[in-house]
Amino acid sequence: MAADLSPIDKAKFIAAQRACAFVQSGMKVGLGTGSTAAWMVKCLGERVRDEGLRIKGVPTSSRTADLAREVGIEVISLDEARWLDLTIDGADEYDGELSLIKGGGGALLQEKIVATASDQMIVIADAAKKVDTLGAFPLPVEVIPFGWQTSKTLIEEVLIGLDVMGRTASLRMNGDAPFVTDEGNHILDLHLKRIGNARQLSLVINQIPGVVENGLFIDICDIVVVGHGDGRVEVNDINSGTFDETRVDFLENENLFADLD
Ligand code: A5P
Repeated sequence: MAADLSPIDKAKFIAAQRACAFVQSGMKVGLGTGSTAAWMVKCLGERVRDEGLRIKGVPTSSRTADLAREVGIEVISLDEARWLDLTIDGADEYDGELSLIKGGGGALLQEKIVATASDQMIVIADAAKKVDTLGAFPLPVEVIPFGWQTSKTLIEEVLIGLDVMGRTASLRMNGDAPFVTDEGNHILDLHLKRIGNARQLSLVINQIPGVVENGLFIDICDIVVVGHGDGRVEVNDINSGTFDETRVDFLENENLFADLD
């Protein structure tokens, strides 16, 4: 089964699997959203089943909640957990300071709340997510449906004074209708191309009344685990400044993939 995975899926899987080694019994764990995070939830489910790992998971979307329950992870709300030991989630882009763009899957609001309520956040990614400067991936901004067009205009106006290369925003669609988040909001994707000052951008956008939250995660991520299609997996810890690289042999790990599809 491992041999059937595309290089990108192998990269996502080994990043997810490596990050799951940080999870210990008794932990309350934030469960991210997206295709990489889905591998992580499946890997944790396997550890729950095979090793008797005892964890409580706080999902960051209804999709992740459904998957977590399906694989046997006990699911609790953030209000029940209050504070988490660890959150593991994917990202759309990360830079050398481990600043992130998230929200490509539309779950940025719950993801940011959950990651912020955690002692540690680990991002899992394939190597293509690494950038020198954030912004090639459109920045998702969650806005309330009321007056979203006004919010869009206000965002485009404030972008004129900011250090970005592109200044247009588009309403995310789901077929013919606007995309609706788990919180009942819409998403505006900002086509910025290059973000010169992510911290300033985040603060300015969040000042606009209709904006709920933006997809910039600054000073939230502690560790990035990066998978490569050839089996290499890197762990970069920004706090300790450590960098570790190992290699996963897909043939030896054939059984690990067996029931994860
Ligand atoms: C979900 O809203 C996002 O923040 C995802 O974590 C991000 O889009 C990464 O998704 P993939 O792992 O599918 O690339």
